[in-house]
Amino acid sequence: MAALNVALIGQGFMGKAHSNAYAQVGHFFPELRKVRRKVVCGRNRERLAAFAKTWEWEQVETDWRRIVERDDIDIVDICTPNALHAEMAVAAAEAGKMALCEKPAANSAVEAAAMAEAAKGVPNMVWFNYRRVPAVELARQLVHEGKLGRIFQYRAAYLQEWGNDFTRPAAWRLSKAAAGSGANGDLNSHLIDTAMMMLGPIREVSATMETFFDEKPDPSRPGETYPVDVDDTVLTQARFANGTLATFEATRFAVGVRNANRFEIHGEKGMLRFDLEELNRLHYVDASAEKRLQGTNTIMVTGPDHPYAAKIWRPGHLLGYEHTFIAALADFLAGLESGEPAQPTLDDALQVQRVLDAIEISAHERRWVETGL
Ligand SMILES: NC(=O)c1ccc[n+]([C@@H]2O[C@H](COP(=O)([O-])OP(=O)(O)OC[C@H]3O[C@@H](n4cnc5c(N)ncnc54)[C@H](O)[C@@H]3O)[C@@H](O)[C@H]2O)c1
Repeated sequence: MAALNVALIGQGFMGKAHSNAYAQVGHFFPELRKVRRKVVCGRNRERLAAFAKTWEWEQVETDWRRIVERDDIDIVDICTPNALHAEMAVAAAEAGKMALCEKPAANSAVEAAAMAEAAKGVPNMVWFNYRRVPAVELARQLVHEGKLGRIFQYRAAYLQEWGNDFTRPAAWRLSKAAAGSGANGDLNSHLIDTAMMMLGPIREVSATMETFFDEKPDPSRPGETYPVDVDDTVLTQARFANGTLATFEATRFAVGVRNANRFEIHGEKGMLRFDLEELNRLHYVDASAEKRLQGTNTIMVTGPDHPYAAKIWRPGHLLGYEHTFIAALADFLAGLESGEPAQPTLDDALQVQRVLDAIEISAHERRWVETGL
């Protein structure tokens, strides 16, 4: 079968992570349909040319609309600032392209709904890549198999510290118009997606948000500042439809912590604990074991019977951040063959967006808000 021609929009951090996934997926998953790095799109032609050379994209383009119009493109992959996702995904899907999109899907549930609607007829996926950490997938399997029994509490935190760095230039992530929100869309979206993958829909939320600095020094204009109009930190209490209670903490001001993405799940039969900073490990307590032997089991989720691991390295050989993107892409390609679409689709991402919107309303109106899920 002919290779699928990919067009990537955005040559930044995610452009790099996704380029690596396209380059590597056929090495680890040779049975899947091949992908061809056809064209990469960005705004700066000079930097784009260097990027294309490094990551072996065949062509470059500076106008994303021209990509969508091309007959020889099968997949459009969107790695741009959040405000651009909806327009690009809708245009790609309406042109009959498969649509892959970075998270959060959009700036609002209204936008995400339009994307999901446009993409009804085409394969699509949103890159909530942490679903593909083998330890996270193992946790999902254990929860779904009932290993923890009834789940009482779910506790999650996504902690970064870069908000407290005042040497950084103005960036789209600090602008509501470009990013939709701050820590809520950027970090909480990952937590909410993982949590709903584990436990189903979140029914209601109560949240508070803070912007610690609404302006920051602009390094390119000494003495001047630039505005910040998004949340730096968002704290959420939530109740799932199944009755589980949860807390979610997402922040760019967790000074001392670079990129922790943690959850703990407490059920009647035990506990699971994960932290992205140790992504090969899952901690498990079996509360039904003999009391004097009870303690935390540290499972190295690197095979041979663990998700994804066997396809990558031999048992015990560590996996990294990049494998989450390779595995997500592999699942997407496998879904094309099996007819069982890989998750999360834009429909799933719409559910996440509904929760994010409810969190925002709750924080502003200082009350519990139902998500409608
Ligand atoms: N899944 C993850 O773990 C993860 C991590 C980081 C970012 N993200 C998401 O990925 C997306 C991109 O984030 P990033 O960190 O790569 O940002 P970035 O700033 O590093 O890169 C954004 C890219 O978009 C390009 N761009 C902007 N406007 C454009 C336009 N009109 N046409 C073409 N290209 C345009 C920029 O030139 C830049 O190359 C965001 O939605 C973000 O939330 C996801």
